[in-house]
Amino acid sequence: MVCSESWRHKLKKITKAVFPVAGMGSRFLPATKASPKEMMPIVDKPLIQYAVEEAVAAGITDMVFITGRNKRAIEDHFDKAYELEAELAISGKEELLRLVREVIPAHINCIYIRQAEPLGLGHAVLCAQPVVQDEPFAVILADDLIDGEPPIVKQMVDIFRQHQCSILGVQDVPREQTRQYGIVGSAPMSADLEQVNSIIEKPKPEDAPSTLAVVGRYILTPRIFHHLGKVQAGAGGEIQLTDGIAALMQEEKMLAYRFKGTRYDCGSKLGYLKAMVALGLKHPEVCDEFAAYLDSLK
Ligand code: UTP
Repeated sequence: MVCSESWRHKLKKITKAVFPVAGMGSRFLPATKASPKEMMPIVDKPLIQYAVEEAVAAGITDMVFITGRNKRAIEDHFDKAYELEAELAISGKEELLRLVREVIPAHINCIYIRQAEPLGLGHAVLCAQPVVQDEPFAVILADDLIDGEPPIVKQMVDIFRQHQCSILGVQDVPREQTRQYGIVGSAPMSADLEQVNSIIEKPKPEDAPSTLAVVGRYILTPRIFHHLGKVQAGAGGEIQLTDGIAALMQEEKMLAYRFKGTRYDCGSKLGYLKAMVALGLKHPEVCDEFAAYLDSLK
């Protein structure tokens, strides 16, 4: 086990989050033809904003976006919108002005790195190395929207503070769905923590070591970059993050955390619709009328 790396001596907290947003989003075509799926809204906020808010709630200050061919919309979303703010101010729309200004708090840095080709999630994370360097960091997949209190990344950062190792966000899935996920083999440490000893990408149900699936929240140590740099492209020509994690776990302790929250797979149409209904029913502006409307459909 590697335990004398420099980051362990230097770093007390996680300050950087990586958001891979360069995927094709093919399951949402044609909506994703000209804009990234992470800009699709749930009620009135794009998925990527929920993800950034989760990172901010965990005390993270540097947001590193790994963008692809449709990057403009995400950069524009987190930029200051001078004309829009001026228009809202002139027309006295104070509440809307506040909403626009609060998209990103002033102390947050947004950094954009281009992934020239969508060579896989592992490759996207590797693209963050020049910015992340020698620090542990969070990876947040915005299309996995997780509604939890405290927010999931905060839960994981708190565990990192205690254990100082990589942590995978996991949840139990029906065995027939293991083909859609990275699945871990592990030994229980407590009610919500497992020590990971294997990970397999998209196993057949009969080959899966468990039904614990890795979903879109990770805390990783910088040693992951060393392994991702060596991973060979697998099926579909993609560099899998799972392969890098499998190599990392040979060297370092790795935990799986059963987070407390409800996950919506917004990369799929059904998950996206479920998220829209669940968060619509919580939205202060529309919840009552929306609930009445849903009732009327019964
Ligand atoms: P997905 O596996 O959901 O792929 O990627 P996708 O391309 O976004 O969507 P489909 O399957 O074609 O519908 C998981 C996450 O990894 C990012 C995606 O943006 C998404 O957040 N990703 C994937 C990259 O940033 N780069 C890649 O090369 C691949």
